[in-house]
Amino acid sequence: MANVVIVGMQWGDEGKGKIVDLLCPAFDGVVRYQGGHNAGHTVKFKDRHFSLQLIPSGILHPEMVCVLGNGMVVAPDALLSELGRLYEAGVRFDGRLFVSNRAHVLLPCHAVLDRAREEARGAGRIGTTSRGIGPAYEGKASRYGLRMVDLFAPDLEDRLRLLLSRIQVELESLGADEPLQQPAAYVDLVSGWAERLRPSLRDTEQLLNGWIKEGKALLLEGAQGSLLDIDHGTYPFVTSSSSTAGGACTGTGVPPTKIDGVIGVLKAYTTRVGGGPFPSELTDATGEFLRSRGNEFGTVTGRPRRTGWLDLAVLRTSAMLNGLDEIAITKLDVLDDFDEIPVCVSYKLNGETLSTFPPDRRSLETAEPVLRTFKGWKRSTVGIVEWADMPQEARDYIDFIEAEIEAPVTIVSTGPRREETIVRSHPQLDLLTSGRLGRVLAER
Ligand code: GDP
Ligand code: IMO
Ligand code: MG
Repeated sequence: MANVVIVGMQWGDEGKGKIVDLLCPAFDGVVRYQGGHNAGHTVKFKDRHFSLQLIPSGILHPEMVCVLGNGMVVAPDALLSELGRLYEAGVRFDGRLFVSNRAHVLLPCHAVLDRAREEARGAGRIGTTSRGIGPAYEGKASRYGLRMVDLFAPDLEDRLRLLLSRIQVELESLGADEPLQQPAAYVDLVSGWAERLRPSLRDTEQLLNGWIKEGKALLLEGAQGSLLDIDHGTYPFVTSSSSTAGGACTGTGVPPTKIDGVIGVLKAYTTRVGGGPFPSELTDATGEFLRSRGNEFGTVTGRPRRTGWLDLAVLRTSAMLNGLDEIAITKLDVLDDFDEIPVCVSYKLNGETLSTFPPDRRSLETAEPVLRTFKGWKRSTVGIVEWADMPQEARDYIDFIEAEIEAPVTIVSTGPRREETIVRSHPQLDLLTSGRLGRVLAER
């Protein structure tokens, strides 16, 4: 049975939620390994539409166990409201949703600090989702954070006092006037949430490794994208966790020797929300067209996403960092109407040609994209499910990406819904779906 990581290859919102949901029939469980409710993963099938933030995108399959791993930062209030929304939509998760005891707790004070910092940065703001992700991960690294299990500790009030005082000091230095609640009030609030979540809390690393021993297959769901990774992304315009495939081990307790493969998800063009360098960005009418055609507005914040052409320097770097076995391409249909489709194949920088992603912001901001133009297919690909029905020009576009990234494109998404997907026969995909590809096709 194969355990597989699904990872975003760009700056997030590649369609990871859709691909995880699609592949679920070949797996027994889905585990999120990092991030928090900054993520917004959309799942659509038939007339149903879900937007998931903390809960793994497998939750809509009634047989699937779902785990929020230790590498996540979990806002208990956000998790409870998400569970409430799912329950109202008819989704039942009793006995199949587990939250790591070791996941860090994200509290409202983290979000207050996130907003105050962004305000203070002015024009240089990161453009965070203002959920408190950075401050929560910092609390973890500074070792004054609280984990889920700590919410039941007898010294909870003392620990909350310490955490709040650290945040208060910084808020004051930033001149922020939003008052924080007193530690005692916080204890009541937090203990109430903790009690409601208690039945789901587990030592999930024990649970996951036990399942692997029993022969269950797990899908490890990444959030954000490789270029938002704290180490490998466009620092400082990144999120605060390890979103690349490496994070799947530390964020779940599943050892590297038990991971059998990695599937990268890439959008047929590029988007990014928030600030930071984006060499192939289009700030003109074409970019606007991509945004409206692709409905590129943030799932979490509703912010318009910045848009641009596909960038191979991004993808080559991402493919290398994640050690991709195969690729799922999404949103190909958004390119249906273009006469020509340029792709950024490298950058020109100080007279040199670069085919990978430079580390410093200045180079990224001055790098000029070198474009190669593909002929558009100029007909609808929406909902196509067979590779043979794809226009030749669309196949050429995909073949080119495949050759450049040196990994097979086994899944092509031709619409937001589960049904709107081409799954290509490939031995690698058979392997990573443990011979259960038939089930995936049956539920598509
Ligand atoms: P994620 O964060 O990586 O899961 O991606 P999001 O859900 O934030 O953003 C992807 C958006 O594109 C969602 O609105 C999806 O419903 C939509 N989507 C996914 N695949 C396709 C596709 O192939 N075609 C189109 N038109 N939309 C898609
Ligand atoms: P999914 O999982 C796209 C971006 C924010 C900001 C930066 C830091 O849906 O792909 P943070 O709140 O994490 O401190 O913000 O990261 N960002 C995302 N962009 N998709 C996401 O998640 C994102 N999560 C964070 O816009 O630029
Ligand atoms: Mg998203």
